[in-house]
Amino acid sequence: MAEHTPVLLDEVLGGLAVRPDGRYCDATFGRGGHTAAILRALGPAGQVVAIDRDPEAVEAGRVRFARDLRLTLVRGSFGELEECVRAAGLDGELDGVLLDLGVSSPQLDEARRGFSFMQDGPLDMRMDNEAGQSAAQWLAKATEREIADVLRTLGEERFARRIARAILAARAQGPLTRTGQLAEIVAAAVPTREPGKHPATRTFQAIRIHVNRELEQLESALPQAVRLLAPGGRLCVISFHSLEDRIVKRYIRREEQGDPVYAGLPTVPPHARPRLKRVGGAIMAGEAEVQSNPRARSAVLRVAERLAA
Ligand SMILES: C[S@@+](CC[C@H](N)C(=O)[O-])C[C@H]1O[C@@H](n2cnc3c(N)ncnc32)[C@H](O)[C@@H]1O
Repeated sequence: MAEHTPVLLDEVLGGLAVRPDGRYCDATFGRGGHTAAILRALGPAGQVVAIDRDPEAVEAGRVRFARDLRLTLVRGSFGELEECVRAAGLDGELDGVLLDLGVSSPQLDEARRGFSFMQDGPLDMRMDNEAGQSAAQWLAKATEREIADVLRTLGEERFARRIARAILAARAQGPLTRTGQLAEIVAAAVPTREPGKHPATRTFQAIRIHVNRELEQLESALPQAVRLLAPGGRLCVISFHSLEDRIVKRYIRREEQGDPVYAGLPTVPPHARPRLKRVGGAIMAGEAEVQSNPRARSAVLRVAERLAA
């Protein structure tokens, strides 16, 4: 079975400040690398609810952790974090929430999941391949402008317009159904190469983020995580993309300041008070981790603590 090496493992455990009897939510279970480490740090009374929208991830987790009754696995999206935690039967507050964003190695490595420009597969790219629109379905209908906008904003692709035009020209000849087909179209449309990078990297990343509504999911999860946390509870978010990290950084900053409407006033009602306190700055993987796990190169961890209202 395909493996996933968890990034920033010690840093996440430190960030969550795991207490043996604590209750934690791993909102991006993947192959359970972080969950396993949290479970190791917990005593018999600790609990973990782990969420993933990918049915294969949840299935693999049910097998791997079948004997550990401290873990409840939920198939769902962290955009509905509160609902997922409720579905796990956990009421009351949590001591920590972890989001390790993006895709897992098994998703990227299995050609049939359709995320890879390196190996030909169906043009899918959905983390939950039983819901929503696949990349092929989106590309079949989107306008040139919509495609170019997605490539520019989510992939920071300089040649967004050219690639979008090439996709429309190809689509007029017949449906785009394979990742290999899309990779070739992009490679032919892009006039220059970035060293060490496949010319379709940015396009695939952008379409994946769009199809999975990754930024919207993150925007929706952060306030839910804060509502779920007990005072002193920790929020840990690992981003792999500057747009994700910007959302996290701004959100924490906003929650550190409280509602600006009440700034300078002698009494601030509970709902307008700061709800988070930043714990340290951005944490990046060290040289040794990047050497052994290249995925760690772009990982950025941010940690915040829930304040009492
Ligand atoms: C980087 S991997 C997590 C790896 C995990 N920490 C580990 O150590 O194995 C991200 C996982 O989050 C899942 N995921 C991404 N967005 C999600 C969302 N909005 N809701 C639920 N799961 C999501 C993906 O399906 C993937 O399995």
